[in-house]
Amino acid sequence: MKEQIIKLLAEKLPSLTEAEISELIEIPPNPEMGDFAFPCFRLAKTLRKAPPMIAQELHDAITVPDFVEELRVVGAYLNFFIKKDVFADTLLSAVKAEDFGASGEGKGHTICIDYSSPNVAKNFHVGHLRTTIIGNSLYKIYSKLGYHVERINHLGDWGTQFGKLIVAYKKWGSEESVKEKGIEELMRLYVLFHQEADKDPALEDEARHWFAEMERGNEEALHIWQWFVEISLEEFKRTYRLLGMDFDHYMGESFYRDKTEDVVNRLSSAGLLTESEGAKIVDLEAYDMAPCLILKNDGSSIYATRDLAAIFYRKENYHFDKCLYVTGQEQRLHFQQVFKVVELLGNEWAKDGLVHIPYGLVSLGGEKLSSRDGNVIYAEDILLEAISKIRDIIEQKNPDLEDKDTVARYIGVGAVIFNDLYNQRIKDVSFRWEHLLNFDGETGPYVQYTYARCSSILRKVDDYDPAAPVDIRFLTDEASLGLLKELSRFPAVVKEAANRYEPSVVARFSIAVAQAFNHYYTVNRINVEDPAERNARVSLVDITRRVLRDAMDLLGITCVEQM
Ligand code: ARG
Repeated sequence: MKEQIIKLLAEKLPSLTEAEISELIEIPPNPEMGDFAFPCFRLAKTLRKAPPMIAQELHDAITVPDFVEELRVVGAYLNFFIKKDVFADTLLSAVKAEDFGASGEGKGHTICIDYSSPNVAKNFHVGHLRTTIIGNSLYKIYSKLGYHVERINHLGDWGTQFGKLIVAYKKWGSEESVKEKGIEELMRLYVLFHQEADKDPALEDEARHWFAEMERGNEEALHIWQWFVEISLEEFKRTYRLLGMDFDHYMGESFYRDKTEDVVNRLSSAGLLTESEGAKIVDLEAYDMAPCLILKNDGSSIYATRDLAAIFYRKENYHFDKCLYVTGQEQRLHFQQVFKVVELLGNEWAKDGLVHIPYGLVSLGGEKLSSRDGNVIYAEDILLEAISKIRDIIEQKNPDLEDKDTVARYIGVGAVIFNDLYNQRIKDVSFRWEHLLNFDGETGPYVQYTYARCSSILRKVDDYDPAAPVDIRFLTDEASLGLLKELSRFPAVVKEAANRYEPSVVARFSIAVAQAFNHYYTVNRINVEDPAERNARVSLVDITRRVLRDAMDLLGITCVEQM
């Protein structure tokens, strides 16, 4: 219908293209102002007339088409009122499609997403929780649009810190305590190393020596390192299991250790490497950036070198159209430098093929979260706490519910995910249990509750036939049409979320649908006597349920049937 309205307007407005008209058309927030509105402000200049006058002239010039009930001028707007039954029918046939929301636009294209990527021997903290949640949602969103996605976990598993850890382990650690306490013990050893090295700087040399041994392939060094990687991965995977998330590749920085030499060669034959205090750098002054360090003065590679190697590896092996990096904003400069270096090597695709996707900090909302020691907050602990709090609520409110543990897990984890994704990713996220676990409000549990309500209605109506034709007259009231309009936005929402790398668009859509549904449910009886009416009402419940489920899935949240 919007297309037809655009055509109508285009005929009368030769100064605007159809695309421009499409941009201008608004959906009024209040249906009393029509279903589509065309603002005439922008035309005032070219037509040299007051906007309300333009609206009036358009109104008089346009022949009202069949599907339009009324054309009305309100101020500088020309408002289109669509015939309610035609509108409801058009919307219904769109939203009831099985793959509604999906598209094939990404077919044949590949997106790499580099996300989560925690550091070995360090805890998986709340910052990593954010990249994991955002990255996973982007994976789902792009997949929905038909893209092939490679989910890459670029573990921080290489670097001088492992030299330090080996020294500390050999001096003060034991196999038993590492086995028993895992990452916690590795972190203790790491802190201890720094304390001791303050007193005895020779320890730093020892650490450098051990990292050099690792790079040289010393079996003992690699053996200990490999063990630390395994221990860490085991803990990380526990968190991924809780989240219900997975990767296609665990390819950490160590994977590129034999590929950095090639990067250095490429850079030096392109004449991009310069020497600075014994180190090798790429000068980026012309681009207002600090130089990109490639090799330290002892010849060892760094984080950036391995990122460069990873980009070429991914381009050659996955042929990505885009490679996205989801990390905190403190890495902004790092990625700007790395991407610029790739571009300077003559790769035009670096310009829009490499994208850094930063996000805000996690603040704890003043409330104390249980932590294993003073200040490190483990993502796993947050998830477990959310689950246990939800478990308590279920125990109070619905003690007879089946499989309470699974339900608590999905709702608890979903609440944390939803809280993370509800605001624009660049904004800081705060954790307030009383907010994020609330069953009322803009929260995961609220959407879950709405979904479960839909499921429960469907369970109660046993003669509902999804294939039966719907008598549209029962869906033309304000609440039904409002819900249909909300639902119909889904495909555009998914596209916008992908274009802006912004899962919050989907989270907000879920809330809007849930609210529209709850309004629909408050003003309309669903399980009515009349079979045709009942079938129409229930069909909208059925569609809402499916859209909520699919939207929540795009966020990485599993809905529960009962709660
Ligand atoms: N391990 C890094 C960190 O925890 C994140 C890695 C991001 N990915 C990358 N290709 N640099 O900060």
